[in-house]
Amino acid sequence: MSKTILVTGGAGYIGSHTVLCLLQNDYDVVVVDNLSNGSDIALERVSELAGKDVEFVNGDIRNEETLSHIFTTHPITGVIHFAGLKAVGESTQKPLEYYDNNVCGTATLLRCMQKAEVKEIVFSSSATVYGQEAPVPYVESTPRGTSASPYGATKAMIEEILEDVSNSDHQWKISSLRYFNPIGAHESGLIGEDPKGIPNNLMPYISQVAIGKREKLQVFGGDYPTPDGTCRRDYIHVMDLAEGHVAALQYIKTGFDVTNLGTGNPTSVIELIDMFTNKNGIDIPYEITDRRAGDLSEFWADAKKARIALNWKATRSLEDMVIDTWNWQTKNPSGYCDPLTLGQ
Ligand code: NAD
Ligand code: UFG
Repeated sequence: MSKTILVTGGAGYIGSHTVLCLLQNDYDVVVVDNLSNGSDIALERVSELAGKDVEFVNGDIRNEETLSHIFTTHPITGVIHFAGLKAVGESTQKPLEYYDNNVCGTATLLRCMQKAEVKEIVFSSSATVYGQEAPVPYVESTPRGTSASPYGATKAMIEEILEDVSNSDHQWKISSLRYFNPIGAHESGLIGEDPKGIPNNLMPYISQVAIGKREKLQVFGGDYPTPDGTCRRDYIHVMDLAEGHVAALQYIKTGFDVTNLGTGNPTSVIELIDMFTNKNGIDIPYEITDRRAGDLSEFWADAKKARIALNWKATRSLEDMVIDTWNWQTKNPSGYCDPLTLGQ
C-alpha cells in the first residue's frame, strides 16, 4: 500500500517539485499551504504531470485544528516540512513574523504529529545554519554557527528543537536537509520559481532581466576574495533537490540527522550570468555595485555524506539549471498568472 506524506508548504517552489517526485515514486500526498507565497495552480500542474491527484488543504501550520483534522482524517506516515518564510532581508525588518511563522509554526506541527503518533519528519534547513565563520566546504560535522539574519536564526532554532524532540523520545526519525542554492525548474517548464514582487535571489532576477521585466542586474560586489571578485555559491537544480527528499524519506533513521544537499561545486555570480547568456543566447545587462549587507564571499557543500547516507547525489549540470530556468520563464512570463494550459 502507498504511504501518505503530509507536505507543508507544498504549493511553493521546492515543495511543488518535491510533491511531483513523491507522486512519481508511488507516495500519496496531502499538501497544507496557506498560499502566502505559493500557488494552487502549481499543484494542479503537478497532478497533471504525475497523472495522479494531490489533496490540497488551504491552511496555516500555526492552526492546530487544521493540522489535527488532517492527521485524524488521513493515514499520514511522515511529513516533509517546507512551510516557512524565507526572505533574508525581510526577516531583518519583520523578525517577529519570521519567528512566529517558522519557529512557532514548526512547534505546532510537531505537537500535532506527536498527538497523532506520526514521528517521521524531513525538514527544510539551509546552509545558512553553518553561520558566518565556518570553513568551506561546509561539512555536517561543523557545529551550527551564528546566523547573520533572523531568517537564519529560525532555521538554527528549529534544528535545535528537532534535536531536543529526538532526545526526548527515541522513536522520532528526523532528517534535516541543509539546502545550498536551489535554482532551475522542472524540465517541462510547467512548474518553476514564481517570486512575488522584486526577486531577492540571483537566478530569478537574471531570468526577469532576460524576459525584459527588469532593466539590468546589479551584481552585489566585485571585490570579494574569489577568482573573479564576485561571490561564489553552490547552485543545485531544484529537481535534484526534490529527489533528495524522496531519498531522505527512504533512508530516514531514528534520531536526529543533518545532511547537506548541494553539488559540492562553487560558481561565481559572473560565471552564472555567462552560462545563462551562452546557453540561452540572451544578453544579461549588469552593473557591479556595492556589496549586499550580510553576504558571505563564498560557500559550498561537502556533498559526501548525502552520497553515503542517502545514496543520493546531484546529477544535473549548471547548464541544465540555466536552460530549465529559461524554459520555465519563457513559457510563464508572469509565473502562475499566465493562463498556460498543458499541451500548448
Ligand atoms: P516558497 O516560499 O516557494 O515555499 C514555502 C511555502 O510555504 C509557500 O508556498 C508558502 O505559501 C507556504 N507557507 C509559508 N508559511 C506558511 C504557514 N504558516 N502555513 C502554511 N503554509 C505556509 O519557498 P521555497 O523556496 O520553496 O522554500 C521551501 C523551504 O525551504 C523554506 O522553509 C525555505 O526556508 C527553505 N529553504 C529555501 C531555500 C531557497 O533558496 N529557496 C534555501 C534554503 C532553505
Ligand atoms: N546577487 C546579486 N544580485 C542580485 C541577487 C543576488 O549579485 O540581484 C548575488 C548575491 O550577492 C550572492 C549571490 O548572488 O552573492 C547569491 O545570492 P542569492 O540571494 O541568490 O542567494 P544567497 O546565497 O544569498 O542566499 C541563499 C538562500 C538563503 C540562505 C542563504 C544561505 O536564498 O535562504 O543562501 O544559505 F539563507
